[in-house]
Amino acid sequence: MSRSAHPAGPRHADVLPEGHYTAPPADLNALDPKVWAETVTRDDQGVLTVGGIDVRRLAEEFGTPAYVLDETDFRSRARAWRTAFGQDADVFYAGKAFLSRAVVRWLHEEGLNLDVCSGGELATALSAGMPADRIAFHGNNKSVAEIRRAVEAGVGRIVLDSFQEIVRVAHIAQELGKRQRVQIRVTVGVEAHTHEFIATAHEDQKFGIPLAGGQAAEAVRWALRLDGIELIGIHSHIGSQIFDMSGFEVAAHRVVGLLKEIRDEHGVELPEIDLGGGLGIAYTSDDDPREPHEIAKALTEIVTRECESARLRTPRISVEPGRAVVGPTAFTLYEVGTIKPLDHLRTYVSVDGGMSDNIRTALYDAEYSVALVSRSSDAEPMLTRVVGKHCESGDIVVRDAFLPADLAPGDLVAVPATGAYCRSMASNYNHVLRPPVVAVRDGEARVIVRRETEEDLLRLDVG
Ligand code: LLP
Repeated sequence: MSRSAHPAGPRHADVLPEGHYTAPPADLNALDPKVWAETVTRDDQGVLTVGGIDVRRLAEEFGTPAYVLDETDFRSRARAWRTAFGQDADVFYAGKAFLSRAVVRWLHEEGLNLDVCSGGELATALSAGMPADRIAFHGNNKSVAEIRRAVEAGVGRIVLDSFQEIVRVAHIAQELGKRQRVQIRVTVGVEAHTHEFIATAHEDQKFGIPLAGGQAAEAVRWALRLDGIELIGIHSHIGSQIFDMSGFEVAAHRVVGLLKEIRDEHGVELPEIDLGGGLGIAYTSDDDPREPHEIAKALTEIVTRECESARLRTPRISVEPGRAVVGPTAFTLYEVGTIKPLDHLRTYVSVDGGMSDNIRTALYDAEYSVALVSRSSDAEPMLTRVVGKHCESGDIVVRDAFLPADLAPGDLVAVPATGAYCRSMASNYNHVLRPPVVAVRDGEARVIVRRETEEDLLRLDVG
């Protein structure tokens, strides 16, 4: 189909439907550096490049859809977190956001530690050579086999999430003739201002042990009594995609309150406090995330102040950013398929992926932006909804987006800020194959997670 062969679709002036959009942006070709990876730019012809590579070349060589990850950006964000917190604190990258062996090596090289939350993540970390003592093992229902593997490997800490687990880890460690370093994850009763499914510190949910009612203090009593474990600190993670630091303030206040209770009751000053991850990133131009150095300064000040007023030695702080390290470093590259203008509504633009490579829009009502990247265009803006190829009407990638009205099948579009929780939450719904992750750096592109094939699917289906 040629560029002019489909009806142009509703212009923004005709648009009636409800949505999250305001006015179309002044320049549809502009790339907001807040949402795009560091080395992304447009070349003289208007084609988007990353790490100096033209996206049309990436599409040709690696196919679409593909997650394209800017390694330079990943490393500089990792380094920024590391530098911001300095030598007196630890940064654990949360592997659930996106984990692969290449990523583990980058983290290792940049001096970050790693938080894993399953046997699979642990296996990935160990197989890529992350030293076990730099790994923290999380999860609200770790299996006995997972705990055994983690203790045997010698992970730096296991974050205990229930009374059963306190006993289980102590028992397994003792059986293996070890003393496992542990933290206890507590829920501090903070309502983080984020989607309900990704808020984790209010009490009515599955993670952690509540501070309220003395349960956490009781867990500490258990942990201090058992020989197989060494309690090194308290952990709190209040949620995800948070911009407002006041939640961390309340969390730190309450965790330090517990440290004080522990000192008063047991005469023990626990040496560590982990404030979790959850720092927000810009998915669209409306989001204003803070820089790592501002976050480090704020968190360190909060903990120091709280400890001074409780007359406690300031514990070593650790944090666990996932999204804030990897989220902005990747975009998903799609090819435009069918284009369906609906009168007085909007134009549905179908791409060759969808909810199987980005479930976040359907699951959390997440907002993304999208741009035409295989060329620039001076056509007027048209209101679109970018949808996938799955058999489900909720299969939406970008709910409301303006794209140029001359958009045509075969054009490449890209959705920025898909580095976190897109590949890691990808599925095979409709037996669609999961896209590869292509890392780009200094003019070179390489596959770090390959595209799934039909053989991969059929290998699991044993008939
Ligand atoms: N630490 C703990 C204990 C966590 O549970 C999490 C995330 C993190 C650190 C990292 O949080 P981050 O800095 O990446 O926000 N699938 C959801 C996010 C779930 C987060 C689960 N835990 C999403 O796509 O938004």
